[in-house]
Amino acid sequence: MTRREVLRLMGVGAVAGTSGRLCFGQSPSFVPDVELALRAGAGTAPILPGAATRVWRFTGEVLKGPPRSLDVIPDSYLGPTIRLQTGQKVRIRFTNALPEPSIVHWHGMDMPSAMDGHPHSVIDPGHEFIYEFEVTNRAGTYWYHPHPHSRTGPQVYSGLAGLLLVSDAEERALNLPSGPEEIVCVLQDRSFDADSQLRYVAGGMMEHVQGFLGDRVLVNGVERPSFALATRAYRFRLLNGSNARIYKLGWSDGTPLTVIGTDGGLLQRPIEQPYLTLAPGQRADVILDLSRRDVGTAFELRSAPYSSNAVDAMDMMGMGMGRGMGGGMAMPQASLPNGSLLSLLTVHIDRHEESAFHLPERLSTFESSWDAEPTVAARRVTLGFQQGQWLLDGRIFDMHDTTLEETVVAGSTQIWEIVNSQGMMGMQMAHPIHLHGRQFRVMSREGMSTAGAVVAQGFVDAGWQDTVLVLPGETVRVKIPFTRHPGLYLYHCHILEHEDMGMMRNFAVRPPAAPTVNRVAREFRS
Ligand code: C2O
Ligand code: CU
Ligand code: CU
Repeated sequence: MTRREVLRLMGVGAVAGTSGRLCFGQSPSFVPDVELALRAGAGTAPILPGAATRVWRFTGEVLKGPPRSLDVIPDSYLGPTIRLQTGQKVRIRFTNALPEPSIVHWHGMDMPSAMDGHPHSVIDPGHEFIYEFEVTNRAGTYWYHPHPHSRTGPQVYSGLAGLLLVSDAEERALNLPSGPEEIVCVLQDRSFDADSQLRYVAGGMMEHVQGFLGDRVLVNGVERPSFALATRAYRFRLLNGSNARIYKLGWSDGTPLTVIGTDGGLLQRPIEQPYLTLAPGQRADVILDLSRRDVGTAFELRSAPYSSNAVDAMDMMGMGMGRGMGGGMAMPQASLPNGSLLSLLTVHIDRHEESAFHLPERLSTFESSWDAEPTVAARRVTLGFQQGQWLLDGRIFDMHDTTLEETVVAGSTQIWEIVNSQGMMGMQMAHPIHLHGRQFRVMSREGMSTAGAVVAQGFVDAGWQDTVLVLPGETVRVKIPFTRHPGLYLYHCHILEHEDMGMMRNFAVRPPAAPTVNRVAREFRS
């Protein structure tokens, strides 16, 4: 057997995935604590005044376990918020009622390869995929969305996304604001036609280069919602669920953001900073303490302006010619470019309420992998553009292929040096690079431009992340403790149009001891 065939085997029943009703992991010995039904299908949502908008959406139902395992966001096209606890055994029966193949990925969760929603697992319309897994992640703000190859952008854009909130004992002991004091905010930009229907373009030069940027920003599926809050502390769970837009969040009255968590859960201690930058796919957990505010006052959550050169740069042959100076090679501009000042939501303080909330100085303890030593030499991963195509490590996606550098040992730790260098064409973009499996740690950043530094004012590199924004010119070193599950996983740009065009690669996780082919095969059958 060739190495490639072994890896194909490691792709775990990839092939059987398309046969639909036959599903993985549905073992009689698996007794779930929580069982959910999740369906992706067509529907409508009231987004703009006037006609309802046709969307694709997730709907769900709790079949077993705590009724709060699913939490519907009223009037939103977003999928129900899934609430799980570390250690729970979960079964999710996913039905594809879309007119095209799909599969669900649990972004940020450490899943067995077969449960990760790799595009090779897509199921056809009318079929069902049964996920079975144990929640091993720490408390955090994760999310779920479809992941079929080349169709992730349009499917997410159509409305298919939802939050997955995990809690654990460490988090519960903090008594963070919960119930009505916990507010989820999913940021997504969209464009509409005159009939209030979603407009999506993926094929144009602009979308090809920059990804799709809508001209209205929705929060939980509504434009500029207003939250009537009391004089107490609130917990905001923020997700940038946009296809390509990068937000530099800030409160309009200058209050700093109190960040308590990133992609991979709580920080060790809270951080206060004037801005919070969220690239597509990233999340943040933020405390807003209104206890000393006056009733009757209001302020906004905004995305602060920054030069779009910070995230898209075009420098012909490295000769220092900026945008528009490259002899007709100017970067095309969206009607609402990245870096535009945006008003996202309003907080209105409408009542007085006593609250005794006090944010602890110590939030969490990181597992030892935060300080683990890498076992092999750093790997260099380049982000580049060639012949009209974004590349990852000089390649485009292939459903089953991995290179030697893309083969890692389960549970081992590596440094990956992500280099957003300047190609011959001088075409550069900021790319949010996402890894499936375990969360990683940002070790260093080098080579940021002056314009980029303005966006970087909102970076939080102090916590676990599964998505890191790599600005033009930057080299970002991340330390990754890989998942202990063997099999195929993905890393890719989370600008969904870049991902769809193939700025995505597999990495193969192999068991620690060099396995014989038979052993690999056996492990995956069991
Ligand atoms: Cu959020 Cu591979 O994706
Ligand atoms: Cu993911
Ligand atoms: Cu990209």
